[in-house]
Amino acid sequence: MEDNKNIEFSADALALAKKLMGRYPEGKHKSAIIPILHLAQAEFGGWLSPKGMDYVATLMNIQPIEVYEVASFYSMFNLQPVGKCVIEVCRTGPCWLMGAEDIVNHIESKLNIKVGETTTDGMFTLKTVECLAACGGAPMMQVGQKYHEDLTFNKVDSILEDYKKNTTEPISHWAKDKIKA
Ligand code: FES
Repeated sequence: MEDNKNIEFSADALALAKKLMGRYPEGKHKSAIIPILHLAQAEFGGWLSPKGMDYVATLMNIQPIEVYEVASFYSMFNLQPVGKCVIEVCRTGPCWLMGAEDIVNHIESKLNIKVGETTTDGMFTLKTVECLAACGGAPMMQVGQKYHEDLTFNKVDSILEDYKKNTTEPISHWAKDKIKA
């Protein structure tokens, strides 16, 4: 498997990680693992390789398996390289009833990829996820930190065009400046 290239936090990310761990009492700093994994994903190009997760384990002074089990449980962590924009279409009941499956099929044919794949230009990765708590806007999808709701084929087309025109860097769920210690 390809690996994250730069396996080290920048100075500001390292300072933030230390602050995050410092929120918890002695010996309980593992509780900071979710924001630290978000931080790692933002630092390492949008995904977490084994090397990246090992780095987090060393940083937190915990076992690598303790990082792997969290990172592999939550759909917001990507364990393979992803495109600049990760499209996550909600497939749970209310979205499904409102046409999520048609939206997924439409994106698959528009981008010429299947769920779990990345476009050859490295622009988009398509995933399906469980309820994102925006059922009132079903069908919906998340791209990076942004929710797009009440989707139609036309709306999806224009959203994808906007990302193509305006996105040069990978976008993560949590930009570093949104992670507060
Ligand atoms: Fe899709 Fe809740 S079912 S956001």
